[in-house]
Amino acid sequence: MLNLIATSTFGLEATVKREITALGCKITSVSDGRIDFTGDTASIVNANISLGASDRVLLVIGEFDAATFDELFEKTKALNWQDWITKDGKFTVTGKSVKSKLFSVPDCQAIVKKAVVEKLKQFHSVEWFDETGPEYKIQVALLKDKATLTIDTTGPSLHKRGYRKLTHKAPIKETLAYAMIELSYWKKDRILLDPFCGSGTIAIEAALKARNTAPGLFRSFVCENWPQIPKLEWIKIRKEKYEQINTAVIPEIYASDIDGEAIEIAKHCAEQANVGDFIKFEQKDVKNVKLPGEYGVVITNPPYGERLLDENEVNGLYKTLGALLKGEDTWSCYVITSCEEFEIIYGKRADAKRKLFNGNVKADYYQYYGKRPPR
Ligand SMILES: C[S@@+](CC[C@H](N)C(=O)[O-])C[C@H]1O[C@@H](n2cnc3c(N)ncnc32)[C@H](O)[C@@H]1O
Repeated sequence: MLNLIATSTFGLEATVKREITALGCKITSVSDGRIDFTGDTASIVNANISLGASDRVLLVIGEFDAATFDELFEKTKALNWQDWITKDGKFTVTGKSVKSKLFSVPDCQAIVKKAVVEKLKQFHSVEWFDETGPEYKIQVALLKDKATLTIDTTGPSLHKRGYRKLTHKAPIKETLAYAMIELSYWKKDRILLDPFCGSGTIAIEAALKARNTAPGLFRSFVCENWPQIPKLEWIKIRKEKYEQINTAVIPEIYASDIDGEAIEIAKHCAEQANVGDFIKFEQKDVKNVKLPGEYGVVITNPPYGERLLDENEVNGLYKTLGALLKGEDTWSCYVITSCEEFEIIYGKRADAKRKLFNGNVKADYYQYYGKRPPR
């Protein structure tokens, strides 16, 4: 049994927890930005390919109290690094320290590196490592004098799905767009509209979800080169995920933006994600947008003052959005913004509000619930 951690942006822990449970893994604890679970090597493959809102999957090598450098060295050296790091393995150490006596991160990293090298030298009976083989990124994370030693299994963060090589201004992370969809009542048979679509991330993530496409299916992961995870496991799980894509589903998704270049980029990204045929992209000012049906859901990430436009312009956009949805009780609307007066400007109190982070910017996810279509 392996101890694993899925990391996430603050506010998305419950979403990631649900996703991991759906994979059949057992959750052991949830704390800020960290979801601990247990599994086997197949769970590492499955989690990397399937999790939509998590940033990365870490393999826990050990956890212990460490208040001194000696303690950190000895307890790190006592761990079974040789079970994972090969004789030719190339490894680096990163670190972080919060509310701990060992607050110098560079020193902690150096000590962990030394301890792991010592352990591997002993185990392999060598003095020198070529480091020409697979890559292992060790992390030492200290929180209140407790050290967690992990190896990253993901590589580039899971938000890098592979379809978005080009971006427009202030793109939202794919993981956050995915979570916004998960947190909404939108379902694949309902109309979706994003009138500030930029690079199209929300529309693309929704189209992928509608067709049951695993978020990480089109990319690779750093642990694919580790000998401990059989190649056949990757082949088997990828094959399963491909077979689970529901090609019969044709979602109805509309995405528009005032900027023509944004629309061209969004179209390109959608094609890269193989969902270009299901999203109706259009260059359009939000003030000219009409709701494309009787029932539907708006999920959007409009400009925030501090990132794109000045406050008056931004307020004008929020007012226009409020006017578009005014009296439309068969439409739901979900908006992420850092603007604290959003509800006043939009013209309606939200049914629910949730604290999230968009990059480093604290934001709220305003949720207005509309009636569902009759069955
Ligand atoms: C925060 S960005 C959206 C980013 C997008 N979620 C993505 O992932 O790339 C806001 C977008 O609103 C667009 N925008 C600004 N004013 C607009 C208007 N009047 N009508 C429609 N779109 C507008 C900008 O061009 C920009 O692409």
